[in-house]
Amino acid sequence: MFKKTKPLIIANWKMNPETEQEAKTIASDIKEGIKNIKGINTVICPPVIFIDSVKKTLGKTILLGAQDAFVGNGSSHTGEISLEMIKKTGAKYILVGHSERRETEDTEEEIREKVSGVLKSGLKAVLCIGENERSEHGDYYHEVKIQIISALTGLQKKYTKNLVIAYEPVWAIGNKDNTALNSESLYEMAIFIKKILNDIFGQEIAKNIPILYGGSVNKNNAKELMENGKVNGLLIGRESLKVQNFIEIIKKIKA
Ligand code: 13P
Repeated sequence: MFKKTKPLIIANWKMNPETEQEAKTIASDIKEGIKNIKGINTVICPPVIFIDSVKKTLGKTILLGAQDAFVGNGSSHTGEISLEMIKKTGAKYILVGHSERRETEDTEEEIREKVSGVLKSGLKAVLCIGENERSEHGDYYHEVKIQIISALTGLQKKYTKNLVIAYEPVWAIGNKDNTALNSESLYEMAIFIKKILNDIFGQEIAKNIPILYGGSVNKNNAKELMENGKVNGLLIGRESLKVQNFIEIIKKIKA
């Protein structure tokens, strides 16, 4: 059911850092810190305004992603940035339906359109899902199931090869006590997610769709979450901006 793949580590910088110069410095320090580490796919998703300069700093070894994209027709959309524009920057990944966007912007319908638009454009879509709370009754399984079904229903199988699922329980994101999900519960959720993907696309496709974990990942829990949670990678917020910690996470995963 779980295919072992090259770990995929995605840094979600959210609305950080404040300046282009800082973005370049962080990118360059990360590049230097992991230059001898092979066998890990690292992706950085900076604010879109910094993608170009971060890309120039990183060269080819670390890939770039965007945190969202506008999917739709026409150009009269004030404030939006189209998929095509993002594609031209050289970014390869797009986060879709991050919980911080679900809260204020993206509806389930928009998320479905974004996933399919991103995949049809040939970019990789990282569909973010995750429950708001962990109740005792296990309602969170239902919540996650609804999110997956709603985002992927109708998606043709041929577009699934660039699909990535990022399971990020909302309560663990930016958690001030830095509490991540434990790896045992993550493993259970990963099995559950695979089962839903199985039901939608069949086993052959489901087994190839990578699952990432996000939410308070740090240098102390990263390896354990990957190994015992049996996920294919991690989506990292705060710790991806702390250069030394981020480098250490990558080193530990590789070790
Ligand atoms: P933190 O790693 O800061 O908890 O954020 C996780 C996240 O939202 C990544 O997309």
